[in-house]
Amino acid sequence: MLKKTMWTKEEIQNITKNARKRGNVLMELMKSSNKKDWVIAEIGVWNSKSTKQILRGCGDIISQYWAVDFWHPSDHPSYRDIITEEWDKLHFYACRLMYWFPQLHVVRMSSLEAAKIFPKKYFDLVFIDADHTYESVTQDIEAWAPLIKEGGLITGHDYNRSHPGVVKAVTGCLGEIIKAPDLVWIKQL
Ligand SMILES: C[S@@+](CC[C@H](N)C(=O)[O-])C[C@H]1O[C@@H](n2cnc3c(N)ncnc32)[C@H](O)[C@@H]1O
Repeated sequence: MLKKTMWTKEEIQNITKNARKRGNVLMELMKSSNKKDWVIAEIGVWNSKSTKQILRGCGDIISQYWAVDFWHPSDHPSYRDIITEEWDKLHFYACRLMYWFPQLHVVRMSSLEAAKIFPKKYFDLVFIDADHTYESVTQDIEAWAPLIKEGGLITGHDYNRSHPGVVKAVTGCLGEIIKAPDLVWIKQL
């Protein structure tokens, strides 16, 4: 259970309003609570930029950071030209961060396979930023939401008209959500 039990929509908007990037949104939320042992997961890690930013800024209040990505070639337009060796490098980069941030666990698996590792109500916060199609985001929310504690946060990225699959899946699964800067969506469970 989060020590700060519930935020109102207005509180979340107020806490996150000056955040510049998605990592800042999550950091502002975590810092605004008096909790010192956040257990969080990032689903879709890519080049670990957000991972590093969040661990640098909030490593002292994060006890576990699970970074999940399959780091392998796909037909997605943004990643179509990335060959296996480059994905390996991105994975290696994430793994190297574990030296500096011992609370980081890098999981090279598909989102849905990785979700099976954890017991229900394990996480305080899950950030979903993997495949942005309607089907995938729906499956990710359905797989990860039960793993989040009561009062915990399910969040994700790219909630806008350019990603209609994200909007449809998020509203379809979760109803009304809170929009934060840098296209972040947030729902407290
Ligand atoms: C948008 S990027 C993540 C960006 C990162 N969260 C950030 O803030 O910079 C999406 C990543 O999701 C990964 N991905 C896509 N579908 C996935 C799936 N089903 N399981 C695991 N990873 C997936 C891709 O390999 C890619 O690295």
